[in-house]
Amino acid sequence: MSEHLLRVDDLHISVGGGPARRRRRRPRRGAGAGAGAPARAGARAVQGVSFTIRRGEAVGFVGESGSGKTLTCRAALGVLAPGCTVTAGEIDFDGTSLVDLPRRRWDGLRGTRIGAVFQDPGSYLNPSHTVGRQLAEQFRVKLGHNRRDARQAALALLTTLGLQQPELVYHQYPHELSGGMLQRVVLAIAVAGEPDLLVADEATTALDVTVQAEVLEALDRLRAERGLAILAVSHDLAVIAQLCDRILVFYAGEVVETGPTAEVLANPRHPYTAALLRVASVGDWRRRELEVIDGAAPPAGAAITGCRFADRCAFVTDACRVAPVELRAVVPGAVVPGAVVPGVVVPGGPGIERAARCVRIDEIEPAARRDHERSGVPA
Ligand SMILES: Nc1ncnc2c1ncn2[C@@H]1O[C@H](COP(=O)(O)OP(=O)(O)O)[C@@H](O)[C@H]1O
Ligand code: SF4
Ligand SMILES: [Mg+2]
Repeated sequence: MSEHLLRVDDLHISVGGGPARRRRRRPRRGAGAGAGAPARAGARAVQGVSFTIRRGEAVGFVGESGSGKTLTCRAALGVLAPGCTVTAGEIDFDGTSLVDLPRRRWDGLRGTRIGAVFQDPGSYLNPSHTVGRQLAEQFRVKLGHNRRDARQAALALLTTLGLQQPELVYHQYPHELSGGMLQRVVLAIAVAGEPDLLVADEATTALDVTVQAEVLEALDRLRAERGLAILAVSHDLAVIAQLCDRILVFYAGEVVETGPTAEVLANPRHPYTAALLRVASVGDWRRRELEVIDGAAPPAGAAITGCRFADRCAFVTDACRVAPVELRAVVPGAVVPGAVVPGVVVPGGPGIERAARCVRIDEIEPAARRDHERSGVPA
């Protein structure tokens, strides 16, 4: 059994490309997707992303729209869209390499070892069957339950997920349920096969704040009761802050900061993270979204020599633009001079999991912290 349930190492994904030539009789691939196929050059939308998730751990991706969060998740789920290609890197799930995994092997993983829930629950349900039937079906197919046991298991899971009157819900059709109820039903379907990992991409984004809190609670309960590991994605920092043990902050296709949630919130070491926290602190910080920092991120594939955040950074100097900026390990409360972590590697152990991609990491910390303190964000 691997120490890490999921290990993503130096992942690169391009978009808008495609196969250079068609090969006949090429076996169909799960969308680890076309890795290894001769590809027309696309725009690099994800570059050098690395992270790990341990069993039972919740890891969150946060960052503005278009920063590469969903592409990274989709690569780990084998469901990249046509034209999106893993061009380099490794994705290992419990000892199995997922890049270029044949489709039939994906079918054995998705739903049973890895579940997923996305923003729009309605589109994942069949409108002409009751939700109970669709949920019970998962227990029959994934766990081989008979009809009666599948029904019992479905009712128990609806209860675990906080649905009142599960018997009633069981017999309802999708259109009869509210958005929050639907999202919990889809969550139930995603975890019915007892996966080890759940990928939740903007799973609470469309919900109002009360219902969002209920769904987050349901996720917490699943973690506690089943040791479920969670990869959660949101552009809403508050959601990730509430749910996750560790955070990865994405900017323009790269991870710019990573670390234990409490440490990153209390002591952001990258100016972009500090800016996110400042933005989140305006008004009701729990509901603030992140797209309101001045300026825009460079588009996927933009050729930038130095730091990709330079055009929006209040701390930029000439040194920021001369060479690619690597992630540097951060020891809480101190800086390790020159401790560059090539392609990240974020091994376990206190202190080493903390990294930021900034050449002025040691100079900026006090200023970022001061801004943060002024913002009054609860850490
Ligand atoms: N199917 C696709 N075709 C072309 N470009 C895509 C596709 N999916 C994502 N992209 C591009 O890749 C970048 C990252 O997208 P995405 O991972 O969806 O961002 P996020 O989830 O952080 O909002 C964006 O520039 C987006 O436009
Ligand atoms: S490397 Fe320079 S431009 Fe980039 S975040 Fe750090 S200070 Fe800002
Ligand atoms: Mg997304």
